[in-house]
Amino acid sequence: MAGVFAFAAMHAANARRWGLQCVRWAMGCLALWASATSWAGEVEVLHYWTSGGEAKSLAELKAMMTSRGHTWKDFTVTGGGGQNAMLALKQRVLAGTAPAAALIKGPTIQEWADLNVLTNLDAMAAFEKWDELLPKVIADQMKHKGRYVAVPVNVHRVNWLWANSAVLSKAGVTTLPTTYDEFFAAADKIKAAGFIAVAHGGQDWQDFTVFESVVLGVGGADFYNNALVQLDKRALNSDTMRQSLEIFRRIKSYVDDKASGRDWNAATDMVIKGKAGFQFMGDWAKGEFIAAGQQPGVDFSCSAAPGTAKAYTFNVDSFAMFQLKAWEAQKAQGYLAYLLMGQDFQEKFNLRKGSIPARLHMNMEKFDACAKASSQDFVAASKAGTLVPSVAHGMAVSTAAQGALRAVVTEFWNNDKTTVDGTMAKLASSTGTKAR
Ligand code: BGC
Repeated sequence: MAGVFAFAAMHAANARRWGLQCVRWAMGCLALWASATSWAGEVEVLHYWTSGGEAKSLAELKAMMTSRGHTWKDFTVTGGGGQNAMLALKQRVLAGTAPAAALIKGPTIQEWADLNVLTNLDAMAAFEKWDELLPKVIADQMKHKGRYVAVPVNVHRVNWLWANSAVLSKAGVTTLPTTYDEFFAAADKIKAAGFIAVAHGGQDWQDFTVFESVVLGVGGADFYNNALVQLDKRALNSDTMRQSLEIFRRIKSYVDDKASGRDWNAATDMVIKGKAGFQFMGDWAKGEFIAAGQQPGVDFSCSAAPGTAKAYTFNVDSFAMFQLKAWEAQKAQGYLAYLLMGQDFQEKFNLRKGSIPARLHMNMEKFDACAKASSQDFVAASKAGTLVPSVAHGMAVSTAAQGALRAVVTEFWNNDKTTVDGTMAKLASSTGTKAR
């Protein structure tokens, strides 16, 4: 029932903007009392969740929407990390046919809100007490000029190292590496045993996912923030950055030569199937292990990327709601926003997605050891000041700065002739404009 009032409150706010809607809003509420299906509408949602684990997680949401009589319309744009999706979204919004909701994250939310195309969710947020239900670091990212314009569904940890337990055991690796010396020693054993040591794919965001974990492991959270979030030129051109780039390049020598163009989930599949030992990837990879019927601690392991056990790189998936004209569509959109913050959805979805709920005070009983560790480490890192935003996954800097950094790092990864010194100089100069 709370959903009815939250939904009504949100549309009361929209009504102020669109005058006549107020009357319709009241009618809609009455209709809701009479019949759950009479207020149904279509909700079109832009996303890029197409891998096995992602699709299963999204299916939970679709089922919840359709069980209330709403029609779910996929606006799917393939491509992990979401770069293609953001381009497609721009075209649709420019054409005046924005979807009801889109998977948009971090500072990009601000960029869209600046264009005045997002729906103000403040009334629903106030009614449902989102400020009390969300960690401040997440709530702040969902707000534009203090008003909620997006709804968070999870927290993904990015600085993970995934491992196939059988491969490690066959290679004689008995402990998970906590330093890069240990990591390279383990990788050598895996290679010597005839396996690919590191599964990796061929997109710039995958390269940056590894790179930011290395920077965090080598330099710690303060250095990470200075270099990759504040884009401080001295940090980008320092001995610590030099060491990070050297380790990053050394990791590449453990990747097979067919990585070019490979998707992240195909790389995870190599670990699942026992072709490769390790993968550096956020915990959406766990969604793949789970979808394949594997269990953490048995078939695979999750451990913090070397040197990052006390830090936490966060990546929050969120849906921004676009302003819609049709009343039916607004109703479905309001229900979607309400549903996304609900305990039921946040539990079911995150059990499959590999992430943890964005909502605080959730019962974690049904979650596995990796998720429980993630949840505890998120709190510990936030207290210790070692909670850092993922640059690779659009949590830290503007789209422009992110693109510039990614281009330099991926060139370094892919072209062995690119020097460490040249790359540091390019990093320092490519950032020109500040974070946001
Ligand atoms: C998103 C995840 C997604 C992953 C692979 C990340 O940036 O936050 O939800 O599963 O990319 O596409």
